[in-house]
Amino acid sequence: MSLTELIELKVMGDERGKLVALEGGRNIPFDIKRVYYLTDTVTGISRGFHAHRQLEQIAICVSGRCRMLMDDGVSREEVWLDAPDKAIRIGRMIWHEMHDFSSDCVLLVLASDHYDESDYIRSYPAFLELTRNA
Ligand code: TYD
Repeated sequence: MSLTELIELKVMGDERGKLVALEGGRNIPFDIKRVYYLTDTVTGISRGFHAHRQLEQIAICVSGRCRMLMDDGVSREEVWLDAPDKAIRIGRMIWHEMHDFSSDCVLLVLASDHYDESDYIRSYPAFLELTRNA
């Protein structure tokens, strides 16, 4: 799997506007157990700075944009999430950071499991250690 895996979502648009559907096991590659979203992110604030041991996630800026940084412990890649039909897969053991949130950014995240703090790796040195020993 490449570090940055983008999913182009189908837009069902017509003269009334746009509609995008997200379906677990169809265009989203797991069963969706949790949905959360980030709004009103303060200018200049970055978020994320963690990896997950088991959790799979998909992130979409349904409004506005932000810059995603992805890191597998070997290399780093950056991508702008800047369209409601552009989804990024955040797989297991991918250190990720979100930067440069626009003031209108609504970052929607679909997750494969419920919230579990013990699944987080919040220390970058610990993350590197785990990827090296994997
Ligand atoms: P966190 O994942 O650290 O946010 P970010 O990575 O975007 O900076 O979550 C922030 C706080 O919210 C933290 O105390 C955990 C809590 N939280 C939940 O209770 N449930 C959730 O589904 C999420 C994502 C976070």
